[in-house]
Amino acid sequence: MRSALLLCQNGKENEADEILKDLGFKYRLCPKIFRCEELRVTESDESVGCVSIRDNILNSYLLDKLYGIFSSGADYWAYHNYNESNPCEYFSYAFQLNGNGGGLINETAEFLIENLCEDFPAIKDTKYIEWWAHCREHAGSHQLHFDSDDEGRTQVLNPIVSCVLYLNGGTGGPTLVTDQALTSRNLATKGWICPPKKNRMCMFRGDLLHGVTPGQSDNELISSHDRRVTLMIAFWSDLKIRNAPGFGSSRAHPGNESNIPWAKPLNSSIENAADKFNDRLIHVRPNTIEPIWIPIHGTVSSTMPQYDECFQGI
Ligand SMILES: [Fe+2]
Repeated sequence: MRSALLLCQNGKENEADEILKDLGFKYRLCPKIFRCEELRVTESDESVGCVSIRDNILNSYLLDKLYGIFSSGADYWAYHNYNESNPCEYFSYAFQLNGNGGGLINETAEFLIENLCEDFPAIKDTKYIEWWAHCREHAGSHQLHFDSDDEGRTQVLNPIVSCVLYLNGGTGGPTLVTDQALTSRNLATKGWICPPKKNRMCMFRGDLLHGVTPGQSDNELISSHDRRVTLMIAFWSDLKIRNAPGFGSSRAHPGNESNIPWAKPLNSSIENAADKFNDRLIHVRPNTIEPIWIPIHGTVSSTMPQYDECFQGI
């Protein structure tokens, strides 16, 4: 499949299709998504409805602080046995909004609610925050999925909205959000792309299928040490905080008294909120891609294809 990805990234879709057809795929993502250099976004107040991007979110002090906690090689990753080239099972933390927990993430969430409520009015119903992070290689990806409580083990519940904060830029592929909702009976017809950029935030409706496609393989500006570092925040009207032992979904955010090394800087506070956030956010219009799925050899399936019949580059 790696060779099919390389062919797609180099504009040789017909050759890729020969491989993909033999592998049983019926659809692949459209060429633009794989050719990351074509995915420029533009500064604009124009809304696309279910995806919003803002640049210039955090001031340099808070950005550096969060990047220090989640950068490659930081305690946080070793503590969770996280493998950067092959991330382990999902784990996240959760807390009640405006309670006594959550530290800098609570403050970031409050700021986002205040500044994004025009785009997503339901975000005002947020009572719980779930957060998690990723540190991926440039070629790393995250298969298309729905954000759901406890990964949908008992029932599938989606957050009101989810967001991605890009703590560094340039490395890795874009975030792809599609118009395929949990209740959809058909494949997505269109999607929106958000390329990674330092201090960018992408927020999207919580019931939409989304993921990360691989970074362009021939980008000579990327070194083997560079990582795509992101912090994700999901906004919930209701959420069960799980106090179960070990790592997993929605574990209680470590309290202020915690001695966990990575939790201490996260729970620190800065007296003046103006010290953490920029007062001029830059509105960016997501890049709309339509269609996003291309039938291989033009064969349109009469029924909803299986998940593993759709090539995402993974
Ligand atoms: Fe997600």
